Amino acid sequence: MYRSHSCGQLRASHINTEVTLAGWVQKSRDKGFMIWVDLRDRYGITQLIFDEDRTPATMMEKAKSLGREFVIQVTGTVIERESKNAKMPTGDVEVLVSDLKILNDAKLPPFTIEDETDGGEDIRMKYRYLDIRRNPVKDSLIFRHKVTMEVRKYLSDQEFIEVETPYLIKSTPEGARDFVVPSRMNEGQFYALPQSPQTFKQLLMVGGMDKYFQIVKCFRDEDLRADRQPEFTQIDCEMAFVEQEDILNIFEGLTLHLLKEINGVEVDKFPRMLFDDAMRLYGNDKPDIRFGMEFGELNAVTQHKDFGIFNNSELVVGIAVPGGNSYTRKQIDNLIKWVKRPQVGALGMVYCRVNEDGTFKSSVDKFYDQEDLAKWAEVTGAKAGDLICILSGETNKVRTQLSALRMHLAEELGLRKPNEFAPLWVIDFPLLELDEETGHYHAMHHPFTSPKPGQLELLDSKPGEVKANAYDLVLNGNEIGGGSIRIHDKQIQATMLKHLGFSDEEAKAQFGFLMDAFEYGAPPHGGLAFGLDRLVAILGGQETIRDFIAFPKNNSGRDVMIDAPAFIDDEQLKELNLKLDIQE
Ligand code: AMO
Repeated sequence: MYRSHSCGQLRASHINTEVTLAGWVQKSRDKGFMIWVDLRDRYGITQLIFDEDRTPATMMEKAKSLGREFVIQVTGTVIERESKNAKMPTGDVEVLVSDLKILNDAKLPPFTIEDETDGGEDIRMKYRYLDIRRNPVKDSLIFRHKVTMEVRKYLSDQEFIEVETPYLIKSTPEGARDFVVPSRMNEGQFYALPQSPQTFKQLLMVGGMDKYFQIVKCFRDEDLRADRQPEFTQIDCEMAFVEQEDILNIFEGLTLHLLKEINGVEVDKFPRMLFDDAMRLYGNDKPDIRFGMEFGELNAVTQHKDFGIFNNSELVVGIAVPGGNSYTRKQIDNLIKWVKRPQVGALGMVYCRVNEDGTFKSSVDKFYDQEDLAKWAEVTGAKAGDLICILSGETNKVRTQLSALRMHLAEELGLRKPNEFAPLWVIDFPLLELDEETGHYHAMHHPFTSPKPGQLELLDSKPGEVKANAYDLVLNGNEIGGGSIRIHDKQIQATMLKHLGFSDEEAKAQFGFLMDAFEYGAPPHGGLAFGLDRLVAILGGQETIRDFIAFPKNNSGRDVMIDAPAFIDDEQLKELNLKLDIQE
């Protein structure tokens, strides 16, 4: 037996008990005649004491040789601590050691294994196994486990069945690039790793599984951000014989369950917002609705004077920044610089101060009088003491820019409170999206999403206006899930693929298996997938998913710990019938 108790377990009630503990040396303090060692494991820290008067001399020597992160086993008696530490659950006691075994020594770690470490991001990723010993990382992984358990519990209780689907498959179009795996046995052919189990879960519905879920790895070769990893996990779900309303209710239920069980928060029914309204009011299809600052469209109250920039803009739109009139000129200049950064791309920003006495002072006073400015305040909802920030230009671009500014300001003003949760359904997404570069339409969600009833006819005449039975679940300004009611009719699926630019042959080659299945009694079905990493991070009060993944990739998609991806040797390449022509 390596241990009788964990390092987080001992209390005053254990005094005089003989115990055996095992763990890592967090730190030791050597006063010569007395040595204290903090022994750590996943469950906590227990103080050990070696005392010249009560500990044999050989053991004292051994205790002196202990370094940070040595793995040890000790046996001893639990005694009352002279100076108690109320901050530690084990702080009332210590273990007077009678036997010490060094199970393994350890090199000095490259960073301190403490809550506030001196290690930078890169070094911690390289030695991730050491980082996992630190409370913040360890606790995040335990937190993830709890969320996952609650998800499984809730869905199982609702009669969902967890079914595994394959990883070595054919490309599924979710909008990113595929990671591919060469097949040794089928020369020149490749598997693709799933961007999601989308087609398989639909086939499970044809197979009569009725309610499916899977906590599943998905793979997408796309540019990485704080909320994106090349391999990530979905809570993937699908149901047969359902309408959009049924799906929204079930997964609203799951989210409410998680908020209650994990965060102890009770939230009312989730509001629903049309995609078009989300874009108009927040410039974004995943609005953070925890703070106001809704967009006010100002064309009607700005385009009647000689200010050419506004007059020539498709959209003039502004937000009221609460308390923003206290900004100094320098702070406002910095905001203007911020929106002009290439990442945001605005050409400039017009602003208007709303003074406490109800008067206005704008950066374009030459063109607008107090009466005009009062209307701006009315449209943007600005009150005395606020600052109105206005951008103008092409509608989609300017909305994106103002949305970025809104989020930036909310962050700066501390309005994005991590412990406040505001879920939201965004519904009625467009079916298709125009790719500005190619001029072609592609599926906004994926090609299996069904148009809203009666809208199929519009596909030819007004493809951009067709709305889909598609919905996203948004939590605190993050898209944590998305799904749709699917097409379950072969002919409609074929029409859809044609509109997406697939020839009949291409459609058959890529999705023939699905359309064939639709001919054998496919039930109406639909579903949704949550991004588990994002969900966990947000419930945990953060937005960087890396912190909730045991072994994440860095921003270049590398695992710096195992040094992957890596070259493979010529022998392996030959076996796979691959030739690489890379200039050294
Ligand atoms: P979608 O592509 O919207 O839908 O993905 C579902 C959810 O997965 C999360 N997500 C990611 N998380 C981390 N890193 C990534 N690279 C990443 N990409 C996506 C998001 C997103 O909301 N098959 C459909 C679902 C369906 O229709 O049922 C799908 O995959 O939180």
